[in-house]
Amino acid sequence: MFFNLQLLLVITAVLGTDGYYHYVIAECLSSSSALTDVVLIATFYFNKDPVLRFNSTVGEYVGFTELGVKNAEIWNKGPEVQQARAQLEGYCKNNLRIDYSAVLDKAVKPKVQLKSELQSDGSRPALLMCSAYDFYPPVIKISWLRDGQKVTSAVTSTEEMPEGDWFYQIHSQLDYIPKSGERISCVVEHASFQQPMVYDWDPTLPESERNKVAIGASGLVLGIILSAAGFIYYKRKSSRPY
Ligand SMILES: *[C@@H]1O[C@H](CO)[C@@H](O)[C@H](O)[C@H]1NC(C)=O
Repeated sequence: MFFNLQLLLVITAVLGTDGYYHYVIAECLSSSSALTDVVLIATFYFNKDPVLRFNSTVGEYVGFTELGVKNAEIWNKGPEVQQARAQLEGYCKNNLRIDYSAVLDKAVKPKVQLKSELQSDGSRPALLMCSAYDFYPPVIKISWLRDGQKVTSAVTSTEEMPEGDWFYQIHSQLDYIPKSGERISCVVEHASFQQPMVYDWDPTLPESERNKVAIGASGLVLGIILSAAGFIYYKRKSSRPY
């Protein structure tokens, strides 16, 4: 008897497992705030294997394993299936209504920046970058216009990139050989805008560059005036009779 108990303890220790893991993942799927196509998918897992699932489109539990099939049979005859059906309204639609009004239907305008990355030297194309920052939702469209015509080639875009705080950014690059007098614009379409926003490229120098040119030009003019004054003074003085 004593010996048997010892053996039992040894066997238990050897066969001891790390435990079991059972969990349920409930998903509410919807394509719009109208909530006309909401689907509830509740999947039951045992040690990572899906055992059975309630799919509100099907309206019943469906088992995947022997255990799952048995459970589904029982639950589909009992109150469980009615409760699961009621969760489409009570759990999914109620929460989705809150999610849409609090977050998903909100739109935050992108901050758009259009700048020159590389100037053309005649042979090499110029490079313009149109960047949109801090917008939500991530769905956005950036395109380019050249004298009102949509540019189809020489455009490279990144994906919408998460900034980690619910906001997104995207960058689109245009390679082009500049022509004088042409108008280049970046067009941004986003849920936060009533209509597509057009940002025209201003090829004149940015303000800091303009200031440098202005300071240089003033210095040049001042120098010319001073040297002219000096020259006139010298001429007058040297031609004065003694
Ligand atoms: C739910 O059921 C519908 C209808 O049978 C099916 O089209 C859909 O793929 C199912 N979804 C899942 C996640 O099983």
